[in-house]
Amino acid sequence: MLLSLLFAPVASALTLPPILSQGTGCGSPLPSGQTPGSVTNVTIESGGLTRSYLVFVPPTYDPLLPTPLILSYHGGLQTAMDQLELDEFTKPYFNNDSFVIYPQGIDERWQGVPGDHVNDLGFTTDILNSVQSSYCLDLTKIGASGKSDGAGFVNLLACDATLSSRIAAFAPVSGAYYIDKLPCYPDTITIPCNASRSDVPILAFHGGADNIIAYDGGERKDECLPSIPHWIREWAARDGLSETNTTVPFAEDAVIYKYGSTTNCTSGGLVNLVYDSVNGHDWPSTQPNIDNTHLPPYHPVSFNATPMILDFFSQNPLPLWYLL
Ligand SMILES: *[C@@H]1O[C@H](CO)[C@@H](O)[C@H](O)[C@H]1NC(C)=O
Ligand SMILES: *[C@@H]1O[C@H](CO)[C@@H](O)[C@H](O)[C@H]1NC(C)=O
Ligand SMILES: *[C@@H]1O[C@H](CO)[C@@H](O)[C@H](O)[C@H]1NC(C)=O
Ligand SMILES: *[C@@H]1O[C@H](CO)[C@@H](O)[C@H](O)[C@H]1NC(C)=O
Ligand SMILES: *[C@@H]1O[C@H](CO)[C@@H](O)[C@H](O)[C@H]1NC(C)=O
Repeated sequence: MLLSLLFAPVASALTLPPILSQGTGCGSPLPSGQTPGSVTNVTIESGGLTRSYLVFVPPTYDPLLPTPLILSYHGGLQTAMDQLELDEFTKPYFNNDSFVIYPQGIDERWQGVPGDHVNDLGFTTDILNSVQSSYCLDLTKIGASGKSDGAGFVNLLACDATLSSRIAAFAPVSGAYYIDKLPCYPDTITIPCNASRSDVPILAFHGGADNIIAYDGGERKDECLPSIPHWIREWAARDGLSETNTTVPFAEDAVIYKYGSTTNCTSGGLVNLVYDSVNGHDWPSTQPNIDNTHLPPYHPVSFNATPMILDFFSQNPLPLWYLL
């Protein structure tokens, strides 16, 4: 009682600093027309263009509680809606707790794809600035995922000097990590990267039967794709980890190559590659999806990537000091 009397006037005289880990949207009602559980198409001006993205508000959303966010980028020649169907991040079976944003690429492509010159890093920055003032976001829990060309763009986010320290964790699936350099030596090519920290969490997935973006890399569209083992080992090296992995079998035909892991869980190491020897160019799912029914080898696999990615994002928040 005495203490509170002594300190109360002092405390009320202080202006509290803004809480670093939350956006400025906390306490605001949802934009008109949006409700928990809904998906809305939003347009935004970015780089002189009118761009769009889908936003999913989680069913449990409370405007007073800082909430995680996932960015999910569609594959080449696909749409934001295709990605929403493919990744299932909006299904209650997998996720009730995170916002999901599905940006739409111009001409259904992303920066980094050979010949593409749109500023999608700027688009992503503009989206983040906008959504963190509209919704109550936990700024330590922003994850990025995507498929194929969209996964290649996730790697660009992880390699961007600014966004690598704004997005907490990265989960590319069947990534096309184009490098504009020929002749192509997939196992040794230098991989350009400007990541601004050396604790970037990576959970990548790749199929051994991928006949679009080969696990062994090689020349494609007049650029060079690194082999996936070389690409993941370079992430381990950038994060200061041994390039020798711990191989954890976890499902039929599938192993996780873990770098810097101290546990045996299915996710949780800092750098991880989930390799399924029989998977094609498909988002790994035990159920038929728009990938595994449209491209050979036409079959579901023995595990779901979606809950592994959600777990990985929840286990790897951004250390607070990057927000200072
Ligand atoms: C969202 O709106 C934009 C602009 O009107 C449109 O180009 C895009 O196709 C829409 N996306 C979806 C998934 O409806
Ligand atoms: C989401 O909520 C639904 C309805 O309460 C529940 O059936 C489902 O198990 C929840 N999903 C997760 C991932 O907890
Ligand atoms: C790294 O930074 C340089 C200089 O700003 C830039 O030209 C290059 O595109 C960047 N590379 C990546 C992968 O971010
Ligand atoms: C991980 O280590 C195993 C055993 O040494 C090796 O066979 C495998 O190729 C390695 N994985 C990668 C991605 O380098
Ligand atoms: C994995 O870790 C759990 C919990 O620490 C332990 O009970 C289990 O035996 C371990 N499994 C293997 C294969 O090491």
